[in-house]
Amino acid sequence: MKILHIDCSPRPESYSRALSAGMVDRILDLYPGASVTRRDLGRNPIPHATEDYARALSNPHEEVDPACMQLSEELICELEMADAVVIGTPMNNFTIPSVLKAWIDQVLRSGRTFASKAPGQKVGLLKDRPVYIAVASGGVFADEGASQPDFLRPYLTAALKCIGLHSLHFLPLQATAFLSSDALSQAFDEALTRFDEHFSTARAA
Ligand SMILES: Cc1cc2nc3c(=O)[nH]c(=O)nc-3n(C[C@H](O)[C@H](O)[C@H](O)COP(=O)(O)O)c2cc1C
Repeated sequence: MKILHIDCSPRPESYSRALSAGMVDRILDLYPGASVTRRDLGRNPIPHATEDYARALSNPHEEVDPACMQLSEELICELEMADAVVIGTPMNNFTIPSVLKAWIDQVLRSGRTFASKAPGQKVGLLKDRPVYIAVASGGVFADEGASQPDFLRPYLTAALKCIGLHSLHFLPLQATAFLSSDALSQAFDEALTRFDEHFSTARAA
């Protein structure tokens, strides 16, 4: 079992970090020999697409200096090696933070992680694997009481599906700006219990 653990919050005391770490700990309990590859985009952001990288992606028939693909290759290899991916992310302005978008811009590559068939038709080239996504939000975006648009789950679903990752499981921890610390701690425990139930069912199947 190899786990890729990605965090996106710049805050060390972050809720999404705590929840993603909780999920990783639980997987490690069940697979004590598992290894964890860490990609902390929140504390060590990757750069946005550089000029060379953007040129290479925009002109797919031109020869490319392999150096401009180095970061993209490194990130794709981390993903390819993983049996499970755990992502902790805040909701920022109704969607993912730009550090996670920068990662997606490196990982979605025509001819490498997806194939373009007819215009607009993309086929993922990576094998599917479970992706567990802890989402911390100041307000409520999911289920009953949602009071804002949710572009995070539909966007991540479309982006990861494009490269072949269909088995996404979202674990929201909502209203972090409003709940008392007791209520938050209860919501946190409930989220991890939902994860436990899902993970043990998936493992038994
Ligand atoms: C730039 C920025 C934008 C935010 N946008 C939203 C938002 O659209 N919806 C929301 O519910 N919370 C929003 N928040 C609040 C965060 O989602 C919330 O504080 C969350 O707990 C942060 O995640 P973390 O605890 O893992 O750092 C935003 C926070 C920041 C800093």
